Amino acid sequence: MTKYTFPENFFFGAATAAYQAEGATDIGGKGKVAWDEMYHRESSTFHADQASNFYYQYEEDLRLAKEHGVNAIRISIAWSRIIPNGIGEVSPEGIAFYHRLIDACLLHGVEPFVTLHHFDTPLHLFHQGDWLNRAQIDAFVRYAEVCFSEYGDKVSYWITINEPWSIVAGQYIIGHFPPEIHYDIPKAVQAMHHMMLAHAKVVLTYKRMNFNGKIGIVHILESKYARNLDNPLDVLAAKREDVLANQFLLDASFLGVYSNQTLDHINHILDAYGSYRLIFASDDFDILTQAAQYTDFMGINYYASHFIQHYEGDSLIIHNGTGSKGSARYANKGVGERVTHPDVPTTDWDWPIYPEGLYDMLIRIQHDYPHIKEIFVTENGIGAKDIINDNQEIIDDYRIDYVSKHLQAISRAQGKGVPVRGYFMWSLIDLLSWTNGFNKRYGFFYVDFETQKRHAKKSAHWWRDLSISKTIQE
Ligand code: NOJ
Repeated sequence: MTKYTFPENFFFGAATAAYQAEGATDIGGKGKVAWDEMYHRESSTFHADQASNFYYQYEEDLRLAKEHGVNAIRISIAWSRIIPNGIGEVSPEGIAFYHRLIDACLLHGVEPFVTLHHFDTPLHLFHQGDWLNRAQIDAFVRYAEVCFSEYGDKVSYWITINEPWSIVAGQYIIGHFPPEIHYDIPKAVQAMHHMMLAHAKVVLTYKRMNFNGKIGIVHILESKYARNLDNPLDVLAAKREDVLANQFLLDASFLGVYSNQTLDHINHILDAYGSYRLIFASDDFDILTQAAQYTDFMGINYYASHFIQHYEGDSLIIHNGTGSKGSARYANKGVGERVTHPDVPTTDWDWPIYPEGLYDMLIRIQHDYPHIKEIFVTENGIGAKDIINDNQEIIDDYRIDYVSKHLQAISRAQGKGVPVRGYFMWSLIDLLSWTNGFNKRYGFFYVDFETQKRHAKKSAHWWRDLSISKTIQE
């Protein structure tokens, strides 16, 4: 039997995000976001107007968190609650809400990790091009300054942007995020560069304001393996997929430059889509390099890894919005195709369950970026169709198994010296899933979306025990 023990000061956290949890989308002068429009189309089967009602029930959720051993929480601030149009007037009601929420976290002894941007650009700015528009960078810096001035003395951990890759993949490649554009990798790359600059400028702003806390960024980092290691074309396809989704952003945020090798691969991918080349200004790399030195930690969101094979056809992405196995396909011209692996199980949404991919990623990060002093696994979890039985129990053994195996991978990486200081299960409570509405549940706490009543799942009880013993035996 192997024993995995976590350090005394390890964060046993859980994560949320404003738009997926809060509801109250038109309360307190909140400005609209593009999701509000998309979810209110006639064809939409759900919306976020109430979501998990966190805006009104956060006290209860924090109490439940604490009672079940959750000692840290990821929350995000909705930009459009603070500055309804993204630029211009600040809303006192929005400011007051996050004071109450952050104070409540501190009061309950649940350390808040606060994200400034979690997929929810204010609608006014979205209509001006969102992250494709360089001008959005200054608007973001100003919003960040407002947040730092208000909450900087209370918050010890800040996250600039959540998952830049998922944002652009959703917006410009898969097309399931507004503005629902498909297969436009040039737009994706350009928007990522602007987000990297926005992140960097916010890091420098935070440091200039001289707070004691720490600041970092959260990337979704999933390992990409060649399906057939003996086939050089598969190996190249996996490399390209990795450069596009991982390396490009890692270079920018933790080195401050794009290496020649990264740019070569990016240009090859772009060639498949015309003659586009990344547009940047002459001082962009000074800003990125400075910020890379001052960035205190890296957040990694990890759900799956992918096996990639060479692909010749046109881009083809069939998104699995149903939760029935085998209905998803993901292939990109110039990159590669994700395929299944017979030895790797998948979730109902076809996401490969592969904890080893997290271990490999952690070892790679330590090897390539030894200057990163702290790493947090800021999201990890499994989406499922949890069932509540007649006794009001939710027996989610599959979640316990999934989380336990990923924690074991983390513990093994810690054993090799990787400085992982905390783990956040996605999610604390069941939340809105961007593409699946309320059908795909991730939480430690089951939410009855009719009554907004919370029920602790079996995994929440397991978590409480784990947070006390800090040990997994396998
Ligand atoms: C990552 C995102 O940060 C979060 O918003 C999303 O719901 C989860 N992944 C699950 O897909």
